Amino acid sequence: MGDGRLLEALAKRDLSSLYIGIELDADYCMQAQSRIALSNIFILCGSFEDIVPTFPDGSIDRFIVVLPDPAYIDEKKQDGWKPFYGMVYSKLKPRGTLELVTEITDELLQPLCDDAYSRWACWLRTTFLSIGFSLKSQRSDAPAQYSSRCLDQFRGDPDRIRISTLELAKP
Ligand SMILES: C[S@@+](CC[C@H](N)C(=O)[O-])C[C@H]1O[C@@H](n2cnc3c(N)ncnc32)[C@H](O)[C@@H]1O
Repeated sequence: MGDGRLLEALAKRDLSSLYIGIELDADYCMQAQSRIALSNIFILCGSFEDIVPTFPDGSIDRFIVVLPDPAYIDEKKQDGWKPFYGMVYSKLKPRGTLELVTEITDELLQPLCDDAYSRWACWLRTTFLSIGFSLKSQRSDAPAQYSSRCLDQFRGDPDRIRISTLELAKP
């Protein structure tokens, strides 16, 4: 959840749902805990690799993953992180959803050409389909109403940092 700004905005608009923010960085957790006063938010400070397995299978309506650390989405590291998203799948209710907002940059930090972007977007889609998700939509930007520290920073460099948002569902 980073500093929890997006989590707070989402929870404020949907007071009948319970939102759980997960973040490894203790400073971010403390910032969010001292700022947010909504009773429908729980903040859990720790690794999502340790926390998500503690949720009962089939208990979660929606996961929202915004700009995960490269260790959990980078193409070259997929053997390490794919099992995690398999577990996310098992925690979703039937027809539950996963929204993933992620980015690609050129290794030399040059503007990324359309071909490289399209190949990556296709790989991303195919990878999540292979985990068992169905694809509801894929777009080449982040949801306009989403604002977070990292998203706002990444949006400032659209030629070199290109985004894809996948809306995935458990069939
Ligand atoms: C690129 S930032 C994005 C943060 C936030 N979603 C945003 O848009 O501002 C990635 C975040 O993931 C956190 N993180 C990295 N590994 C994690 C893990 N295993 N469990 C929970 N959070 C983790 C980092 O501390 C960092 O705040």
